[in-house]
Amino acid sequence: MKNSDRIRKWIFNIILMSICFLPHSIGMAESVNVDNRMNAQRLWEHMTGENPYQLYPSWPGKEGFYKSTMPAANIQKLYLNHLALDTVVNKKGLFPHGSLIIKEMYTEDKKLNLLTVMYKDKGFHPEGNDWYWVKYKPDGEAPLEGKVELCIECHVGVKDNDYVFTGSIK
Ligand code: HEC
Repeated sequence: MKNSDRIRKWIFNIILMSICFLPHSIGMAESVNVDNRMNAQRLWEHMTGENPYQLYPSWPGKEGFYKSTMPAANIQKLYLNHLALDTVVNKKGLFPHGSLIIKEMYTEDKKLNLLTVMYKDKGFHPEGNDWYWVKYKPDGEAPLEGKVELCIECHVGVKDNDYVFTGSIK
């Protein structure tokens, strides 16, 4: 085989491989579950390191800063990964495993104050639709994580909407 043919074959293989693997990285459930145990630190690395959440899409209609409907009326931002976005846009009724929703809460002078996160982990908590709840400080410390009653008690009010308040997913 001539050298130029060899190079052409290489390029062809690389393109073929990208086509084969790309849809997986976009469409498949992103598992951040290590050894079958969810872990707030691991999830933090995933959403701030390898897959920075600031690049995730917003909830359609909730782009940028907006006010919470809660009594404290924080200023906040909402991000969701592509799996979760697909559920919202196509009204699928239930978020698939691997869905990740991140709410950033800010102070009045727009300093990041707190993050609350929902990550759907297969088998983590079937009675609670497998949502894993975390409250993070901006440095990644997680004072609350897991089956957090405080979060669930309030969000259970929208259980029929897969525990999510912001908009109907049906
Ligand atoms: C008193 C009720 C209440 C409690 C407690 C609560 N939330 Fe929420 N949460 C809301 C409301 C209402 C929204 C809709 C956005 C808004 O208006 O702030 C929301 C939005 C969210 C969202 C964006 C997705 C959605 O449901 O719209 C996430 C993620 C979230 N909360 C996580 C948490 C976590 C984690 C906890 C516990 C640490 C928690 N929440 C505790 C009421 C609550």
